[in-house]
Amino acid sequence: MSGRLAQRLRELPPYLFARIDELKREALSKGADLIDLGVGDPDLPTPPHIVAELQRAGADARHHRYPSYQGMAELRSAAAAYYASRWGVTLDPAREVLVLIGSKEGIAHFPLAFVDPGDLVLVPDPGYPVYAVGTQFCGGRVHLVPLLRENGFLPDLGAIPAAVAREAKVIWINYPNNPTAATATLSFYRDLVAWAREHDVIVASDNAYADVYFDEKDAPPSILSVPGATDVAIEFYSLSKTYNMTGWRAAFACGNADLVRGLGQVKTNVDSGVFEAVQRAAIAALSGDQGCVAKMREVYRERRDVLCGGLARAGFDVLTPSATFYTLVATPPKLSSMEFAARLLGEAHIVGTPATGFGACGEGYVRLTLCAPAARLSEAVERMARMKL
Ligand SMILES: Cc1ncc(COP(=O)(O)O)c(C=O)c1O
Repeated sequence: MSGRLAQRLRELPPYLFARIDELKREALSKGADLIDLGVGDPDLPTPPHIVAELQRAGADARHHRYPSYQGMAELRSAAAAYYASRWGVTLDPAREVLVLIGSKEGIAHFPLAFVDPGDLVLVPDPGYPVYAVGTQFCGGRVHLVPLLRENGFLPDLGAIPAAVAREAKVIWINYPNNPTAATATLSFYRDLVAWAREHDVIVASDNAYADVYFDEKDAPPSILSVPGATDVAIEFYSLSKTYNMTGWRAAFACGNADLVRGLGQVKTNVDSGVFEAVQRAAIAALSGDQGCVAKMREVYRERRDVLCGGLARAGFDVLTPSATFYTLVATPPKLSSMEFAARLLGEAHIVGTPATGFGACGEGYVRLTLCAPAARLSEAVERMARMKL
C-alpha cells in the first residue's frame, strides 16, 4: 500500500492554528487557567423541549430505518414555514428545501454539483474555509474577494474585474459573517442578485448566523427575500447556532429548485440523510416557541456588552457586533494577528483565533467568541487590560 495522500489533500493550505494549539497545550500542561474564546461553539445547552423530542422520537422504532434522501416532508414544511414567518419568503417544500447533515456538509458538497474542473468560484477573504476547500476538492479555481473594514466587510461588487465576473460560476457570501461579524443589508442583497443575474453567477448564501443577533431592529435579512433571488440563489440555514445544536447536525438548503435538486443528487450518492429522531427534534425547534432563541439573544447581548464594552474602555480597537457571537479585536501596532494571538495566550491565558486563519485579509485582527460566561469575559477584559502591548 503506498498510502500516498491524494493531490487534493496535499494541496490544502497548511494548518494555521498549529502554533496556537501548541501554545494552548503548553499552557494547559502548566495548569494555566485558560479562557478559551477560540472556538465558535455555543456553551449553552440545547433547549429542553428539543431534547425531549429527540428522546421521544429516538425511542420510536419507526425512526430507526434509513431516512429519506431529501429529509422528512414535515421538516421541509417546517423549514418553509420558518422562512415564511421569519422573512416572508415562500418556498415549495417539495422542490425548494433539502435537509442537510449540518450546513457544513451541504456547503462542502454543493460545488460537486455545480463546479467542473477549472471553473471559477468567488470566495470571500476572510471567510469560512469550507467554501474554498469544497471548490478545490472538485478541481475548481478559487478567486478571493476581499472583505475590507472600510466597506463594512461586504464584497465590492464593482471592483470584481469584468473578466472574472464573466467567468465566475458561483459566488459565496456569508452574512451575518464569520469571522468579521458584519451583517448585510437588503439593499446589498438586491445589488448582488442584480449582479448575479447580469453575469449568470450562482449565489450561494451561508446564513448560519441568521438568528444570532442582539436587537430586533438588527434582525438580519435573507437574500431570498429579494424579488427574483430564487432565480439565482441557494441559501444554507443551520439550526446549530440558533438552538445550540452544533452537535446534532441539523440544517437545510433552500431556494432555487435546480440548485437544490443538484445538491440533492450529490447527497443521494454519498450519504443517507439525518437520523429521523434528530429531524423530529429539528421540527420541534423550528415550529415550537421561539422564546428560547430570545433568551439566547439576551445572554449573548450581555456578553457582548461585557467583552466589547470592557475592551473598548481598556483602549482596544474592538468591533462591536450586532449579530453572531464573534468580535474582531484589531492587533496593536507592530504585531501580526498570529503574534497578538500568541501573546494573548502566553501572557493573558486567553485563546483567540488569528483572523488570518480565515484568509490573508484577516491580517490585523484576532477573533474572540462570546461562547463563555459573562464572568469569564469580564476576567478576560481585566487580563487584556493588564497586558503591556
Ligand atoms: C460561517 C459558517 N457557516 C457554516 C458553519 C457550519 O455550521 P453547521 O455545520 O454546524 O451547520 C459554520 C460553523 O462554525 C460557520 O461558521
